[in-house]
Amino acid sequence: ADQTYDYDVLVIGAGPGGYVAAIRAAQLGLKTACAESRETLGGTCLNVGCIPSKALLHASEIYEEASHGALAKFGIKFDNVALDLDQMHAEKAKAVKELTGGIEFLFKKNKVTWLKGRAAFKDAHSVDVGGETVTAKNIVIATGSSVTPLPGVEIDQQVVIDSTGALALPKVPEHLVVIGGGVIGLELGSVWRRLGAKVTVVEYLDQILPGFDGEVRKESAKLFKKQGMEIKTSTKVTGVTVEGGRATVSVEPSAGGAAETLDADAVLVAIGRKPNIDGLNLEVAGVKLTERGQVGIDHDFRTNVDGIWAIGDVAPGLMLAHKAEDEGVAVAENIAGQTGIVNHDVIPSVVYTMPEIAGVGLSEEAAKERGAIKVGKFPMMANSRAKTNRDTDGFVKVIADAETDRVLGVWIVASLAGTMIAEAAVAMEFGATSEDIAYTCHAHPTHAEAMKEAAMAVTGKPIHI
Ligand code: FAD
Ligand code: NAI
Repeated sequence: ADQTYDYDVLVIGAGPGGYVAAIRAAQLGLKTACAESRETLGGTCLNVGCIPSKALLHASEIYEEASHGALAKFGIKFDNVALDLDQMHAEKAKAVKELTGGIEFLFKKNKVTWLKGRAAFKDAHSVDVGGETVTAKNIVIATGSSVTPLPGVEIDQQVVIDSTGALALPKVPEHLVVIGGGVIGLELGSVWRRLGAKVTVVEYLDQILPGFDGEVRKESAKLFKKQGMEIKTSTKVTGVTVEGGRATVSVEPSAGGAAETLDADAVLVAIGRKPNIDGLNLEVAGVKLTERGQVGIDHDFRTNVDGIWAIGDVAPGLMLAHKAEDEGVAVAENIAGQTGIVNHDVIPSVVYTMPEIAGVGLSEEAAKERGAIKVGKFPMMANSRAKTNRDTDGFVKVIADAETDRVLGVWIVASLAGTMIAEAAVAMEFGATSEDIAYTCHAHPTHAEAMKEAAMAVTGKPIHI
């Protein structure tokens, strides 16, 4: 280690970005510490994000299958299905504990020092962590993000909740109003709908899931409505008042018009997330922000200040755990003098509902803007495994450049979309053409065959439709 400093690398924040950066830096022989103010490692993702939400999505799906008769058609019958919500939460907590404990183990194994406490810059190479000053040659800002507040709507975590509150409701609400038809609203809205709540999603734009392919957005809304979720698009919330454990949500058309009110016993605010920079004292280090309040970085994750780097949700780009993780590896490699690169054009997005919704690369709309394209589509209805499993909702869509046939984007609505999208990401990372996918042998019978058939459909030659 460079004797001038306590550490070669100090990472601030132990989420998927920070903990991965710290482990990789240590693996590369750098003396590394990671400051984290939470009681446990793993950040938003492991503690109050990806992991607990997926635990509840999984459990609520099994409950719905058992209680609403989906299993009955396979000849599996129950006399009396009961929900033990406390047990469901306990099992979720166990998964979270095992995984956050796992990061602690990995820190020990890799000799990463966990500095417990909030970090604030004192200058470009020194940071106060819980009252102690620590110096480092390189500092990686990986402080993540938190819920964007809705002006005039106060989160009390009782009636008006954010995603953290929605992961821990002690009882199933009667009527949950979700503000924001994005990923959180649809995932957590699905959880509570499956467990018995009436769910109304209020979305400001004319469609849910901004950023996703247009056809996927339309199909998803159709499926969520079929499942019993009410979705009010082009609608804005103008206020929420709480009285006696109930909320009155005032809404009106986004473009203006007649107002109405919704009565609810729970209101989930899920209108996006904002970078965590408060209290970091970035100004004393001279670190510049972007116009959107993120820590500004270049392609190598360097901020404007030599030796200070930033990754994950606090930096520009998609706010996703796997994006943060990949940046964590890359920034550590760059600090060590290697060439760490993340291809931000090939980062998959997945919504873990049923069916799952996934995409990587350009939407059809964005691809068309870029130039001439060919599109191949294959419905899950025509996939033999989906038919066998009775989960035929959705489709696979492959978008390729009309001239070169290079795959520009893949979009999937299917029960296993989140797993299937990995194949598309690998193909795109290798610069594959739709023909490359079409002529790759896919095992039968699998949902993945729908990817091959959609690729075959790009040239108009699928077999099974
Ligand atoms: P974070 O995970 O936010 O970690 C930052 C850490 O820094 C935190 O632990 C925080 O306590 C700590 N910190 C902040 N400031 C300081 C400070 N000054 N000093 C010390 N420590 C500090 N993404 C997916 O890819 N898949 C999913 O399924 C998914 N599901 C989600 C579900 C929910 C409900 C939510 C809210 C998010 C979900 N996400 C998901 C997003 C994902 O959680 C984030 O993209 C990811 O956690 C970002 O990682 P990060 O390391 O940048 O920051
Ligand atoms: P989001 O950006 O996905 O969706 C927010 C939605 O709220 C948008 O559709 C937006 O148009 C709408 N909106 C904004 N202001 C509004 C208003 N005033 N009234 C009504 N609607 C309004 O944000 P969300 O769902 O809060 O999630 C935050 C982030 O967390 C996501 O961007 C995602 O990156 C991450 N996440 C990822 C998950 C996954 O990968 N499966 C799961 C959950 C979260």
